[in-house]
Amino acid sequence: MHLYLDTADRAAAEDLLATGLFAGVTTNPTILQRAVVGVADIPDIYRWATAAGAREVFFQAWGEDTATLVKRGQELRDLGDRVVVKLVASRAGSAACAQLAADGVPTLLTAVYDPAQAVVAAAAGATYIAPYLRRLNAAGRDGIGEIVAMRELLAATGSATRILLASIPDTAAIVTLARRGVDCFTMAPAIAEQFFADELTAEAVQTFEQAVTATS
Ligand code: E4P
Repeated sequence: MHLYLDTADRAAAEDLLATGLFAGVTTNPTILQRAVVGVADIPDIYRWATAAGAREVFFQAWGEDTATLVKRGQELRDLGDRVVVKLVASRAGSAACAQLAADGVPTLLTAVYDPAQAVVAAAAGATYIAPYLRRLNAAGRDGIGEIVAMRELLAATGSATRILLASIPDTAAIVTLARRGVDCFTMAPAIAEQFFADELTAEAVQTFEQAVTATS
């Protein structure tokens, strides 16, 4: 099981990475903007994320044509061997993904909405695909069903491409898809905190502490 933090918020990411439960950090231009940083800050984000224990740090290549995306992807990967290059599952992004993967660069094809795009990702040799669950559902589609179809086709064909679920609405969605064999999830810090918010567990902590106090 691999859990990631879908954020460029340094304080939130460092706090959760310190638990040792999260394998890394995923970003894209919107996430950078939300954290009031930009692409010029990517080297700094790589430094603090890896210093905080991230084993993989995902940055998205930008540009409209394949050659630009490949060039940016190579520059991103040159930051360090924990970089995974994200590419949007457009025609240009998928072609760039194939070229970077052929050069041995770990890649993630993102903004995946249709199982047919998982076929393309497997053909490109992508390390990961990131389907967007909440956005699939918001578009009136059967998000869980589409992602299960992706999982089935990758498993049935023996593809090494893994699903890294993104746009996660809650931890219940993680449980549903983990039961179907999805084992990589990236989530906003607020969703990650739901893992630690069970009331009965909080009550148990108090009860155990009271017992220690009473018997000390
Ligand atoms: C990942 O690259 C996406 O930015 C992210 O998971 C989208 O999440 P949202 O649909 O909740 O904004």
